[in-house]
Amino acid sequence: MHYSLVLLLGLFSPLTQGILTREREIESRVIHERHIPHPSYNAAHQPPANLSLPLRIGLKQRNLALLPTELLAISDPASPLYGRHWTPAQVLEAFAPPEEAGEIVRRWLVSEGVGKERVRWSADKAWIDVRSATVGEVEKLIGARYRVFRRGEEEEYIACDSYTLPRSIADVVDIITPTVQPNTKLAEVRRSLPHNGVSHEREVKRASVAVTGCDKAVTPDCLKALYNMTYVPQATDRNSMAIVNYYSNSYLQSDLDMFFANFSPALLGKSPELVSIDGGTLELDESSSVGEAGWVLQYAMTLAQPQPVKLLQLGNKQTGEFRSFNEWLDAVDASYCTSNGGDDFTYDPQLPNPRPGGLNEHSCGALNPPNVVSNSQADHEYRFSQFYLERQCAEFGKLGLMGVTVLYAAGNTGVSGAQSGYCLDRNGAMNLNATNFNPAWPASCPWVTTVGGTQVKANATVAPGAEEVWNEDLTSGFFLSGGGGFSNRFTTPGYQKHAVKGFLGGLKKTDPGLVKHFNARGRAYPDLSANANSFVNVDNGEFVLSSGTSGAVPTVASIITLVNDARIAAGKTPVGFINPAIYSPAFASAFNDITSGTSQGCKGLQGDRGGGFKAGRGWDPASGLGTPNLGLLIEKWLELP
Ligand SMILES: *[C@@H]1O[C@H](CO)[C@@H](O)[C@H](O)[C@H]1NC(C)=O
Ligand SMILES: *[C@@H]1O[C@H](CO)[C@@H](O)[C@H](O)[C@H]1NC(C)=O
Ligand SMILES: *[C@@H]1O[C@H](CO)[C@@H](O)[C@H](O)[C@H]1NC(C)=O
Ligand SMILES: *[C@@H]1O[C@H](CO)[C@@H](O)[C@H](O)[C@H]1NC(C)=O
Repeated sequence: MHYSLVLLLGLFSPLTQGILTREREIESRVIHERHIPHPSYNAAHQPPANLSLPLRIGLKQRNLALLPTELLAISDPASPLYGRHWTPAQVLEAFAPPEEAGEIVRRWLVSEGVGKERVRWSADKAWIDVRSATVGEVEKLIGARYRVFRRGEEEEYIACDSYTLPRSIADVVDIITPTVQPNTKLAEVRRSLPHNGVSHEREVKRASVAVTGCDKAVTPDCLKALYNMTYVPQATDRNSMAIVNYYSNSYLQSDLDMFFANFSPALLGKSPELVSIDGGTLELDESSSVGEAGWVLQYAMTLAQPQPVKLLQLGNKQTGEFRSFNEWLDAVDASYCTSNGGDDFTYDPQLPNPRPGGLNEHSCGALNPPNVVSNSQADHEYRFSQFYLERQCAEFGKLGLMGVTVLYAAGNTGVSGAQSGYCLDRNGAMNLNATNFNPAWPASCPWVTTVGGTQVKANATVAPGAEEVWNEDLTSGFFLSGGGGFSNRFTTPGYQKHAVKGFLGGLKKTDPGLVKHFNARGRAYPDLSANANSFVNVDNGEFVLSSGTSGAVPTVASIITLVNDARIAAGKTPVGFINPAIYSPAFASAFNDITSGTSQGCKGLQGDRGGGFKAGRGWDPASGLGTPNLGLLIEKWLELP
């Protein structure tokens, strides 16, 4: 069952003739948002003017300009307020849109002929919802031309190329939906290797006792040895950690148990705590896959044990695979949640969904945010409008204010974010001949912590210095490597300026030509990295090897969870937003610097791996600050208030 009326994205030039004409007539209007072309969407036809269009207007929040300063004040190790996180109520109070903004928009709608009774203002004051609007009415209201686009066989989306607003309205509005936004079908950054080498228990057992062999098959013991993980948790009842997982991924308990029997017998029979978001369920259906969720859970549960792990499971067969990062954000923060004023269902699944058979629930603020949230998914930054990116990124920052560590994968394809070798052309569109680096999202948001990938060098024994940038050949001629690069939308945050400057200084000497392919003033990622290569795991009853930053993220999530345990046991707060701390000079010795290996570049660029980044001393966009040393990180973080 697909929505016939969700979304957007077209291949048209941003301005149609009609819009230009309209703009000349009404001088005071400004173009508020434009779409970014995506190669895989096809324009179909024009929608009938009487088609209903659920119009939602997202108001600009207050005080967002203060967010970086406030976040730094509680997360910079040099700050006297370090660790003094905010309550959700304080966050809501500080950033809610001003009352006047809603009034201004309401007055405008009424002056344009929208009946008062059709305008609804959400309880959190963040959204205005216009009932029973039609395509024809909205086209006039926001100076847009809608088209229906087709993706795949059945899915149809509605979108416009751009839209305009009177300047006074543009000043108080963030986004209007449905308009220019792309549908986010989340790219899973994961690839299972064929069932080679490790196909039965005995071989796997051998790999688990020797911490040699970690170049070929990685087990929990390899990771514990690589990252100095000997700490035993003491405060699990006061700590929390979550894995975010989207339909149609699920797991089999029998897979977990087969893994635990080999690597962590104390966990036999244990399951993650299911937290259902937007109808999330573990029931398997014909579309379900059991690979990635099982792999991620096997490692997170084993490395953090006995800390219970929550599984934030999003969506189900009814909601389909049309998913958004906003769903779990809605679930942990009612002030962000779109459902009070109507779902932002151009990006986000339409919930509750009024269509026959549609899901009639939406998780909104029902969940206390866990201390650490591990996200193994990645999308492309270029696909989203700036308003949408800023709104979502600010939300990650607000979670940081509340003391939550948000971890995201850097992607599996070096500088091309979430799809191997595809970079951006001069128009900002993705294609195989393009040569501008193509950052991943939310990896490029300055308020998340982004995890890149490493591997154990061939034949190396596990010890500091044993790792290099993860880099694996694919038969297609592409390479997999940990993602890394520079945002085109967010500038370099203060906490990493020094580190990034050091890297760029070196690059200008060794490879000056590379700088023109990326935005050297952008937020740089990854922040840190961890093994992404050849994890032994159980998938549908068989031992397999899986690779990807999907596995690096739960490893780092476990490590931060153990640091939180040590701090909580010592009467301190969780670490929250970790970036200002990990980039500070005092923490440098708690990371294994990764100094060799190159990430994948653009298919359209000649030369060594298409201009991928080389790892070197200190921070670099191939490996971040390096891989963590848990024992030393705990020492550092226990020294902080
Ligand atoms: C829209 O108009 C067409 C004909 O102009 C009509 O057949 C159709 O029923 C209308 N649809 C709605 C939802 O009113
Ligand atoms: C890429 O370049 C090749 C060879 O010049 C050309 O045939 C192809 O159409 C180009 N593809 C795109 C998407 O521009
Ligand atoms: C690793 O060891 C194998 C077997 O001894 C050998 O063939 C291979 O060349 C070694 N690789 C490296 C990079 O040393
Ligand atoms: C591992 O951590 C412990 C503290 O738990 C520390 O004493 C030790 O030096 C660390 N080992 C390495 C190799 O860094």
